[in-house]
Order: sequence, then structure tokens, then C-alpha cells
Amino acid sequence: MSLRLIANWKLNGSIEFNNQWAEDFFKNFSSKNSKSIGIAPVSIYIGHLKKVIGDCGIEIGAQNICDKEFGERTGEISASMIKDMGCKFSLIGHSERRTFFHESNKIISQKLNQANNNSLIPILCIGETAEENKRNKTYDVLESQINEALRDLNQLSSIIIAYEPVWAIGSGKIPSPEEINSIHKMIKDVVQSRFPKIGLKSVLYGGSVNSDNASSLFVLEHIDGALVGGASLNGKEFAQIANILSELR
Ligand code: PGA
Repeated sequence: MSLRLIANWKLNGSIEFNNQWAEDFFKNFSSKNSKSIGIAPVSIYIGHLKKVIGDCGIEIGAQNICDKEFGERTGEISASMIKDMGCKFSLIGHSERRTFFHESNKIISQKLNQANNNSLIPILCIGETAEENKRNKTYDVLESQINEALRDLNQLSSIIIAYEPVWAIGSGKIPSPEEINSIHKMIKDVVQSRFPKIGLKSVLYGGSVNSDNASSLFVLEHIDGALVGGASLNGKEFAQIANILSELR
């Protein structure tokens, strides 16, 4: 399975939200291929959302997993528990986790290991800040985030990387599609050359993606899909992005 479009609902949602979202999504989704779509709701709603969307092929995943398997980690959820709920993937190292929960690349690497041990596909999120971007440090920052996250893993059969510039998340600003395309190519080159035993399935772009800018992104060779926050909260809008992706890829 290669996921190409993932909804990151962040700290949003409710039972009513799930019902309304599914109604709006399925009314507007015109493609037959829902196999490459994933939704990451707040974990407590995974079971309910699974029931609401039924057996349509859309995968449900987590926004985060614990770096430990079990024991003294009050409030956490392990990769094996997420797997137990029937999920196939988890976001790992989203910039909001790095910023608000102080997740280091070392912790992120341990989380990748947990995902790997439990056959969950990790969606590793990387991205530079506005300041780093201004100082032309984007490539250096991304390279070091990749190196530090992956270097302790001997093997990983599947990983997806989401390139999400921190300054583009929720801001309405995005880099030019050509710039994103070159950055994705660099990400693929770095992973393939330094970590040949790691199976990079796709590189997604995240940060202010919506139905207006989606086609300018999805036409480019190395932009395999998107991780969508704000625009994914509206079922109709997310269906429109999914329709564009299935037309173009
Ligand atoms: P955004 O968020 O689409 O609202 O910019 C993306 C993300 O944080 O994954």
C-alpha cells in the first residue's frame, strides 16, 4: 500500500464531526480509488471513524505513537495498540510534536523503530522553520533530520516522508511547486543513497494544501501526494483534493 493523501485532523473532531465529515466526503468523492487515502483522527476516535467510513478502502492511522512499547508512560499510546485497532500507519515527528512536546530526532528515531517493530507505516514529518528558510538552511536542516531519524534503524521495509515547511503549516503560504519538487528529489536521493535498506514509498508535501493549489503540486514528478491539515477538516474540500490527485497520478 502506498498512501498518497493523508488527512491530519490534529486536535479536532467529535462523534458528530465524524458523521458529518463522512457524509460530505462520500457525496463529493468521485474516484473509485480510495486505497491511497488515509485519515489520522485523534486516537480516541479511531474505532468510531472506522465504523462510520466502513469498508471503503480508506486507511485510518494515528497522529503519534509512544517511543516505548508498554509500562510507565501515563497517557501514551503504543504502536502495538494502534496496530491492534486495525490501523496501518502513524504520523511521526510532526512539527507540532517537535515544538510543543519537545520531540527530539532521537525520540523520533525510537518511534520509527516502534512503528517498524509493529508493521505500522511511519509517515516521518520533516521541515525547516521560517528562520532556517530565510538563512538558506533548508537542505541542511532536512538532511540532518533525515540522518538523525534514520541512522539507528537497520532496516525499514516501508516509510513515507512528509516534507512540511513549518512556516507553511496553517499559514496559507507555500513554497513554489518547483521548489517543493526539487526538495522532494533531494529527499529521495538522500534516503536512497545513504539508507539503501530503507524502503521509501513516497514523499508527500504538507503545509496549506487545498483544492485550489493541489493540481499545481500533483502534476510534478516528485510530489507524490499531500499531508493535509486545515483543508482536510471539511469532507467536501478533502474529497475535491482526493479527486484531483486521482485524476493526476
Ligand atoms: P495545514 O497543516 O494543511 O493546515 O497547513 C498541515 C499539517 O500540519 O500537517
